Amino acid sequence: MCGIVGYIGEKNSIPILIEGLKRLEYRGYDSAGIGIISNDKKETRVIKSLGKVSKLEEKVEHLVIDNSSIGIAHTRWATHGEPSEANAHPHFNKDESLYLVHNGIIENYTEIKAKLTKDGFEFVSQTDTEVLVHLIDSFLAKGSSLLKSVQLALSEVRGTYGLCAISKTEPDKIIVARKGSPLVVGIGDGEHFVASDVNALIGHTSRCVYIEDGEIVEVTKDKFTVSSIDNEEILKEVHEISVELDEISKGDYPHYMLKEIYEQVNSVHDSFRGRILMDEGTAKLDGIDRIAERIANSKRLVLSACGTSWHAGLVAEYMLEQFTGIPVEVDYASEFRYRNPIVTKEDSMFFISQSGETADTLAAMKEAKRRDALMLGICNVVGSSIARESEAGVYVHAGPEIGVASTKAFTSQLVVFALISVLIGRKRHLSLIDGQEILRELESLPKKIEQILKLNNQIEAIAEKFVNAKNFLYLGRGYNFPVALEGALKMKEISYIHAEGYPAAEMKHGPIALIDENMPVIVIAPKDSVYEKVITNIEEVKARKGVIIAIASENDNEIDNLVDYSIKIPDTIRMLMPILTVIPLQLLAYHVAVKKGLNVDQPRNLAKSVTVE
Ligand code: M6R
Repeated sequence: MCGIVGYIGEKNSIPILIEGLKRLEYRGYDSAGIGIISNDKKETRVIKSLGKVSKLEEKVEHLVIDNSSIGIAHTRWATHGEPSEANAHPHFNKDESLYLVHNGIIENYTEIKAKLTKDGFEFVSQTDTEVLVHLIDSFLAKGSSLLKSVQLALSEVRGTYGLCAISKTEPDKIIVARKGSPLVVGIGDGEHFVASDVNALIGHTSRCVYIEDGEIVEVTKDKFTVSSIDNEEILKEVHEISVELDEISKGDYPHYMLKEIYEQVNSVHDSFRGRILMDEGTAKLDGIDRIAERIANSKRLVLSACGTSWHAGLVAEYMLEQFTGIPVEVDYASEFRYRNPIVTKEDSMFFISQSGETADTLAAMKEAKRRDALMLGICNVVGSSIARESEAGVYVHAGPEIGVASTKAFTSQLVVFALISVLIGRKRHLSLIDGQEILRELESLPKKIEQILKLNNQIEAIAEKFVNAKNFLYLGRGYNFPVALEGALKMKEISYIHAEGYPAAEMKHGPIALIDENMPVIVIAPKDSVYEKVITNIEEVKARKGVIIAIASENDNEIDNLVDYSIKIPDTIRMLMPILTVIPLQLLAYHVAVKKGLNVDQPRNLAKSVTVE
């Protein structure tokens, strides 16, 4: 979603800001803008552009301004007001001496706008953000400092914000504030950076502080001071950024999504590396070891997440129930707080999120906190809000995921839940032998993934046949039912083809009515304990002339007599099979979208990290 970058130092801020915005492009946006103050402090400039950052960059190249070493920049994903230059950030006051970029939503903006309009302030955009600028300006006009004016303005607003403000009247500082929308300050030598995502800082600095809700920061080139909204100074811990520049570049791949699909050989390995205690048939997860006993004694395990992470939660439900014997419930985070969820201090809640910034998941966490459940985070992004809000948790170690369609984070989430199942299972009834079998199978996965990736050309050829399909149906049973949902989600989000995932047996209760010779049906049918039943479902589709693509076991020769296309993959134990069966589905969606000429890494309307509810 929206992205923020800020710079203050001695270098020219413009290329740093543009480069920072490019690093945040993956989050999804519709317009971009930059606001700077010239080094002689006489001029301010704002430049905005609809569409890609590259268009903004072209405009900025023609900018005639004395060097600027302070500036803020933004990529906007429209919430209030259509995508347009007027609605793009930075927003500014009447004499353009004050600039502001903002992520989040100001909920009471209509009432503030009415009051400000009455006081003579003129609005030029349809955004909620513009009220913040004029509100801050109204306090500046009464003689308050920039910091104080931001504090006073924020005490009047309801909603969420991550914001940066600069002013010609105090041109040596950026004021930064956060409530519900992530921000990080990068610490350099005689320079500081601000960003909504550490990716914008990589290559500039490896030291940062994460800003928490309710904190306001005054950032100059030499120092930063963090205080609470009531002006109490807060001391911050400095964190190291471990991500390297090459991890966030596309390398030789045409798209991040393809790179990330191929990276699964290593990312799956990284997710279990150093976490297996083979002799004891258990796992060692530093983030939850000290409370593993408490988790094992939980009355219930509740998993909450959105999108692909929710699908990982559904697979985890099968794993955890099978190996720990504890009842499991999986909730859409976006629905959790609109019920009256029965969660108590005897329950353990897992919040699953690649980005660790999903607003719905954070909101579910806040609701769970009130009910005293143990709160555990399963995140990919180190230092993210969900990771920091959790009492304990496990990082999935998939590495930076840039493609909007989540791929390697999903398989790594499943690896982590397999490890948690073993760790908690061994504290309950799981035998040493069974624990060891799971761990040995986990260790064999990277080689099997390598084997599946060799099917890329075959899958691309199958994709070619279905570029013009209008619908897809995905079917799976047991552990592979959530994979059917995930395969359908991948197809929908990047190829814009309608796709639905169903438990295979549910098909006859409704969706079977859709099947004719124009309906491609993808059936996940490895040779496991539900294989015979899935074959019956295949027969039902065949009888209605549906076109069947099967994801099948490599030694299954009979299935070729029943289906139109088969993609043969290696086997593993049932609980780990989703880590393998999902990969052909990721590749299929990828190739269909590429053949349709679509923007695979930044599909329309979508954002990588959904930071509004
Ligand atoms: O960062 P999160 O895992 O919390 O994100 C949740 C969903 O927004 C995300 O999985 C989304 O569904 C992806 N676009 C799926 O590919």
